[in-house]
Amino acid sequence: MTRLLVCLAALAASANAVELTSLVNLFIGTFSSGNAFPGAAIPHAMAKVGIDVSTSPRQAGYLHDNSSITGISLMHDEGTGGNTDGGYGIFPLFPLTNCNFASCPVQIDARAALRASGADAAKPGYFTTTFVNNIQIETTSTRRSGLIRFTFPTTGPNHVVIDLTNDLGRSFSGGDLELTPTGRVTLGGTFLQSYGPSNYTVFACYDFTPPSTLAAQPISQFGTYQSTKLTNPTAVTITANSTTLNFPFTADVSPEQAGALISFTNAKSIVARFGVSFHNAEQACANAEAEVPDWDFDNIQSASEQAWETILSRVTIDTDVEDANVVELLYSSLYRASLVPANLTDENPYWESQYPFYDAFFCSWDTFRTVHPLLSILSPVEWSQIVNAYVDGWRNTGYIPECRANTKAGYVQGGSDGMIPLGDFAVKYGSQAEALGVPTDDLYQALVDTAENTPPDWYTVGRQNTAWKTFGYIPTDWVDPSGSTGLPTREASRAWEYALGDFAVRQAAIALNKPQSDVDKYANRSMNFVNMWDPNVTSDGFSGFAQRRYPNGTFAFSPPNACSPIDPVSHSCARGTDNDVGFYESSSWEYSFFAPHSMATLVELMGGPTTFVSRVDHYFAAPYYLAGNEPGFLMPWGYHYANRPDLSALRVRDVVYSFFSTAINGIPGNDDSGAMAALLTFHILGLYPVAASKQLLIGSPLLSAFTLRNDFLGTSTAFTVTGFDKNGLTGTPPAGAAVFVKSITINGNPSQSICWIDFDDVVGGGTVEIEVYGDATAAAAAGCGEGANALPDSLSTGGFS
Ligand SMILES: *[C@@H]1O[C@H](CO)[C@@H](O)[C@H](O)[C@H]1NC(C)=O
Ligand SMILES: *[C@@H]1O[C@H](CO)[C@@H](O)[C@H](O)[C@H]1NC(C)=O
Ligand SMILES: *[C@@H]1O[C@H](CO)[C@@H](O)[C@H](O)[C@H]1NC(C)=O
Ligand SMILES: *[C@@H]1O[C@H](CO)[C@@H](O)[C@H](O)[C@H]1NC(C)=O
Ligand SMILES: *[C@@H]1O[C@H](CO)[C@@H](O)[C@H](O)[C@H]1NC(C)=O
Ligand SMILES: *[C@@H]1O[C@H](CO)[C@@H](O)[C@H](O)[C@H]1NC(C)=O
Ligand SMILES: *[C@@H]1O[C@H](CO)[C@@H](O)[C@H](O)[C@H]1NC(C)=O
Repeated sequence: MTRLLVCLAALAASANAVELTSLVNLFIGTFSSGNAFPGAAIPHAMAKVGIDVSTSPRQAGYLHDNSSITGISLMHDEGTGGNTDGGYGIFPLFPLTNCNFASCPVQIDARAALRASGADAAKPGYFTTTFVNNIQIETTSTRRSGLIRFTFPTTGPNHVVIDLTNDLGRSFSGGDLELTPTGRVTLGGTFLQSYGPSNYTVFACYDFTPPSTLAAQPISQFGTYQSTKLTNPTAVTITANSTTLNFPFTADVSPEQAGALISFTNAKSIVARFGVSFHNAEQACANAEAEVPDWDFDNIQSASEQAWETILSRVTIDTDVEDANVVELLYSSLYRASLVPANLTDENPYWESQYPFYDAFFCSWDTFRTVHPLLSILSPVEWSQIVNAYVDGWRNTGYIPECRANTKAGYVQGGSDGMIPLGDFAVKYGSQAEALGVPTDDLYQALVDTAENTPPDWYTVGRQNTAWKTFGYIPTDWVDPSGSTGLPTREASRAWEYALGDFAVRQAAIALNKPQSDVDKYANRSMNFVNMWDPNVTSDGFSGFAQRRYPNGTFAFSPPNACSPIDPVSHSCARGTDNDVGFYESSSWEYSFFAPHSMATLVELMGGPTTFVSRVDHYFAAPYYLAGNEPGFLMPWGYHYANRPDLSALRVRDVVYSFFSTAINGIPGNDDSGAMAALLTFHILGLYPVAASKQLLIGSPLLSAFTLRNDFLGTSTAFTVTGFDKNGLTGTPPAGAAVFVKSITINGNPSQSICWIDFDDVVGGGTVEIEVYGDATAAAAAGCGEGANALPDSLSTGGFS
């Protein structure tokens, strides 16, 4: 009886519930810097189907502007930097009408077409657009397969180009195509990575003959095309009845235009089924047959939507009560934060393994701060697969992957930051790792090997541990006697990241009951960032900054504002040998705040809490804060470490409302594989994760209540904000707006701090009540609360024990 009642109540609740997928805006960040991918994909999909523009930058293929479209292709990155022409975008299709087979404009520039104004529309699992000539494109997908439907204005003849050579990067290095008269086209090609030194080979299978239960698509003509001569690749020859193309591997990228052309009669609508694989074309066909057996567009689309609904429903709110703008930002961000890493399980072309294989760790430098911690709270099952893929990378290459992109090792940006999610996993799920299928001894060995060994070339994997262990910092102008090579730049920022990586090992050693000597060793090394602190450097009245250092111990000066948003000199700030500043994509001003595991050390080095607060204020005001990149992610919350959570509450609002919005340019920098999306999610929830630890900073959310669901633990944790004030939903809340945390009550008991919360309480299934008020003076005086444990942990003050 009781059970029946519960079931009925559940039914009633779900009948009234808003479809969370309807709240996702896929176009946020698709113009000017976001590089977000708005096409069709399931969560963590390998296939990400979307249209590609002819203009650059187009990292994810798409731009929400009026540029012309060159095709709809099968795989994409999400929010990355790298080659501005983009990565993937392989084997595009293009629909043509009103042309004669032998003279159809198949070549990429000739076929490019404009979209009708406002024609692009998307929701999770579905994308559509319409060209000015009224041909509509629609797509939906599964993990490795999907459907692309073209609806033409007339029954034709209509044509579809199947492009072998034009990936987004125009990096074709050889490949082949075969087609059958019954409309199966198989392709394989080798292309360059978007961000890395290697090439990769990928395969696809298109079918154009649907099952007899669906409308027929009679093929009237077929053939292949290719450049007439490579000195003028734009002139192409179309050969009717030809069924194969073969281009041997070339070390130089080929401008070859080549592919297949198929014509259809008496078909207004033409559906292509596709599959992709990294093994071979047969596997690509098998993937399509297994995942899209009956070509049912609506079924595939609703399965994709359902998969997204499951992800999104891990955060529930009352959509009628909460602010509509915040709601759209929240669910759009949750969506983008689960697009990658991409699940390539069963598609690893490099080694056989019982473990999952994931791609698009692009890069761990971007994602360790927010993407992985968000997965740890909401999606531990998916996360454990991703963690296993990191560990399996070590198992088969000796090092934890850093920037696996397009299946190959990309460039290392800073530290080996894949270490941090592994430490984070050990800390949060170490005791349940067996149930999650993660072998913790391997995980720990992966950490130790990456912390100790120096690869022959630390350009694409690993760290310069020879230098780190010899000096306790990364010296400038030092030739590694081991013969190990890599880009010897970014010395200061690399050292600060190596320190955090070592902290992750220390954390894992404790969580996994490894010897105390390991705990001490890595704790010790994790404090070595101070060795690159030059107390004598001053800037804008503040003294003490991270700096490069020679092998003899003397500091090498770089202006602390170099590579900041207001750098008066144009410096090179990337990985290249022309970076003579010592910091990667950030300034000394910003990196001098980067020690999440021992912020108390920085407060002290900077002259105490009062000076620290002034320095953080100045960093935002100058601004040295770069909202669009990862090194500054923590800093809106930085005041917590100086006992001023009231200032963090204001700063987080300032940052959210100044830099994020639901507009197409609503992300301040590249979404970076969902890093920005996960960051915004945390800001909205009033939480910020402390790297490789169970601690999260807590503040006042932008929601009045929310519930976090963790399916693995079987828990739902209810957060409520007592006294929630919508006047606080602005960049500069008016005086008196209740945005300051007054108290936190966890499962009915007062928390020992109003500045941090333990992971176990965030996922524990109980209640968290956050009481807020508007009394700025009282909030400033109250700080993080009374007692020895009020401030968030730092190693230097005995934290994280
Ligand atoms: C596209 O938009 C830009 C900027 O609004 C404008 O300058 C350009 O003329 C437009 N091009 C087309 C083909 O409509
Ligand atoms: C590209 O792949 C070929 C083999 O397919 C290999 O010989 C070549 O070294 C690769 N090039 C790069 C830059 O990885
Ligand atoms: C292609 O093959 C068809 C069927 O065999 C034939 O009718 C047609 O003439 C061929 N076309 C060319 C250009 O060879
Ligand atoms: C990844 O793919 C494998 C193989 O199909 C599947 O077992 C696993 O559940 C997938 N993981 C996710 C997160 O979708
Ligand atoms: C780390 O170990 C070295 C050598 O034993 C010691 O001199 C140093 O004080 C230690 N540093 C910390 C932060 O414990
Ligand atoms: C800082 O300057 C003082 C005074 O010139 C000097 O004695 C000290 O060695 C300097 N410290 C460093 C780390 O360069
Ligand atoms: C240390 O090395 C740097 C770079 O070679 C040099 O400029 C500096 O004078 C040296 N310092 C000392 C104290 O020898």
